[in-house]
Amino acid sequence: MRTVTSENITSVFMSYFGPDTDPRLREVMLALATHLHDFAREVKLTHAEWQKGIEFLEWAGRISDEERHEFVLLSDVLGLSSLVDMVNSVPEGTSSSVLGPFHISGAPAIPFGFDMKRDYEGEILLARGRVTDPQGNPIAGATIDIWQTAPNGLYSSQDPDQDTYSFHGIQTTGADGAYGFTTVKPVSYTVPTDGPVGQILNATGRHPWRPSHLHYIVKAEGYRPLVTEIFPDDDPYLDEDTVFGVREDLVMTYVPHAADTFPDGYMLSGKVNETYLVADIDLKLVPLA
Ligand code: BEZ
Ligand code: FE
Repeated sequence: MRTVTSENITSVFMSYFGPDTDPRLREVMLALATHLHDFAREVKLTHAEWQKGIEFLEWAGRISDEERHEFVLLSDVLGLSSLVDMVNSVPEGTSSSVLGPFHISGAPAIPFGFDMKRDYEGEILLARGRVTDPQGNPIAGATIDIWQTAPNGLYSSQDPDQDTYSFHGIQTTGADGAYGFTTVKPVSYTVPTDGPVGQILNATGRHPWRPSHLHYIVKAEGYRPLVTEIFPDDDPYLDEDTVFGVREDLVMTYVPHAADTFPDGYMLSGKVNETYLVADIDLKLVPLA
């Protein structure tokens, strides 16, 4: 097409695809171009605004490296990461939630009852539960990759004062599907704000806070892997998570218990002086189709 207009540009774009283009790639690219073109027409995007957008993306590219994933963060604060989670979720299982940029691979295996809190300040949280199928049958041999922030709100990869794998560990469920460990009650924290995403949050009057959470990746042979997060029901940011990760079934009550009720089988048994919190967190995996 020689005469491209603001009305026909989307169909001209479509006509440029080669006949051997992968059908799914064609579908996704066409929808993307359609929405982008509609967006530019709808807001009558100016040259200056287009330029600002390009500079924003270039800055995100410059600031990103192996450790820092500014485009993922952009997707998170735009709600895209959560939307992708939700359109791919299956209702029979525990809801998934955002992975975030702070998962590190190679975390050590931890036995049942392991203490991730060690000498860190903060309330003791005993997290426990069972991994089951949608009917409630236990899944033995499931792995749960767990990670969270230290009490200062930083993940180990952000904090030179922490060991590489502090507040990280992988536990394998026993025959009854059970897992359990102690840790410190996680705290609310902010997503990184020193880059372009922080600038956008600021310019649109948004705060950068996430409600406190535990991260889990649960895997078992024959089941869909589950990437999720668990939130306490008393967190002030529960209704305004800046990355839209909260789902109803992922919100738990952390129940205070007296020290003398602390169960056997945990590394902290007999060492708890005051109260501790318990979160019962069962996780449902869905069989692979
Ligand atoms: C996180 O939960 O670790 C996280 C998720 C999205 C953006 C930043 C952090
Ligand atoms: Fe997190």
